[in-house]
Amino acid sequence: MLRDGAIEAEGVWKRFRSDHRRGLKLHDHLLRWRANAGGRSARWRWALRDIDLRATRGESIGLIGANGSGKSTLLKILNRVMYPYAGTAVVGGRIGALVEVRGGLHQELSGRENIFVYGTLLGSSRRDVARRLDEIVAFAELESALDRQTKFYSTGMQMRLGFAVAAHLEPDVFLVDEILAIGDASFQQRCLDRMREVTLEGTTLILVSHDLASVEATCERGVWLDDGQKAADGPIGEVLYEYRKSVQDATRMIPTEEQGPIRLLKVAAHGPDGGSARSQQPLDLTLVLESEERRAVDLCVGVSEGTATPVFVVRNVVELDCGEQAVQCELSSLPLPRGRFAVWVGAFDLDERDLLPWRPVADLDVIGPDLDATPAGVARLAPVQVDAVWTDGDGLLS
Ligand SMILES: Nc1ncnc2c1ncn2[C@@H]1O[C@H](COP(=O)(O)OP(=O)(O)OP(=O)(O)O)[C@@H](O)[C@H]1O
Ligand SMILES: [Mg+2]
Repeated sequence: MLRDGAIEAEGVWKRFRSDHRRGLKLHDHLLRWRANAGGRSARWRWALRDIDLRATRGESIGLIGANGSGKSTLLKILNRVMYPYAGTAVVGGRIGALVEVRGGLHQELSGRENIFVYGTLLGSSRRDVARRLDEIVAFAELESALDRQTKFYSTGMQMRLGFAVAAHLEPDVFLVDEILAIGDASFQQRCLDRMREVTLEGTTLILVSHDLASVEATCERGVWLDDGQKAADGPIGEVLYEYRKSVQDATRMIPTEEQGPIRLLKVAAHGPDGGSARSQQPLDLTLVLESEERRAVDLCVGVSEGTATPVFVVRNVVELDCGEQAVQCELSSLPLPRGRFAVWVGAFDLDERDLLPWRPVADLDVIGPDLDATPAGVARLAPVQVDAVWTDGDGLLS
């Protein structure tokens, strides 16, 4: 028997038929049958390949990876709604799971009835659930809809209910898939707070999300799945760094010598006196471009921290001559903390059509202070460094 809150998955493999789709027509079935009868076996695609995952009580794990990398599949296997093809996955104690939004809810039952059914499934007594009912309903903000059938709930309402029940009935292991994608900002923050609270109370958490800032704010450990395989497992900051870097490297593999009306030949970023980029200091960006003809282009430069979402973008209409030329862009004060960022460049005609596709073209290493830490559990949207002068009654604070 595994201790409550422990997770032990070993050598887990899972595959799906790559031609398996709901709603196949008879004609498709016949074709498939004929292909199989002809000796060609159905094609399979591996969703998980030899995954090991061990966790102890109270750990918080952020499970990250590209679309289709196997995150939801792994959670479903841990939650025992799917079985692995090979390997073992054991979870100790009661599992609270929010893997598919409508997952645990019975559509014909009311919100109130669902809370009791779900609570009982989680192993809580009716009395326990009744004791916690007000808290759950208040968290989900569903007071007025409590006695309505959940089939009349919006997706967001169903998700709030599912999360509220799973998060309040003290599961030993809490599996959460993409809760942050739905729900308004204040609900998202309450989910983040609640997830931190339950981990402090000893629940083991696995959180799947593409919202990397929230994962970083909530989890201590990160596991990165890449095409069904474990690519990294360690402290969340390090795993996110590796993941972001790989996303950036992958986008940068677009060949730069491709043909187009405008080509980018060189990018250089310099801080004051031609040195390194520094926080809150001027930054000089030089782009060497080659154009096939004389034309006006809308030139955009952005900086990101390993995602497609830029921290900031500057743009201007520039008259390019035919041939090679340099364009300078000076930022009066670079609002970034210490770290590695990516410079993105794109050029568009005045109807917003691509002349030079928007993509990361260079690394930008910044020297400067680290960011002040956010309060525990608070996700920061963009890493922007802001100087602040603090004073109190006695004068300047350090
Ligand atoms: N029921 C299923 N039948 C067939 N293929 C499936 C099924 N569930 C998942 N897959 C396939 O398994 C792979 C992994 O899917 P999974 O849903 O685990 O990815 P994910 O990491 O959760 O992606 P996302 O970030 O988009 O949610 C994908 O190639 C997907 O098409
Ligand atoms: Mg998924």
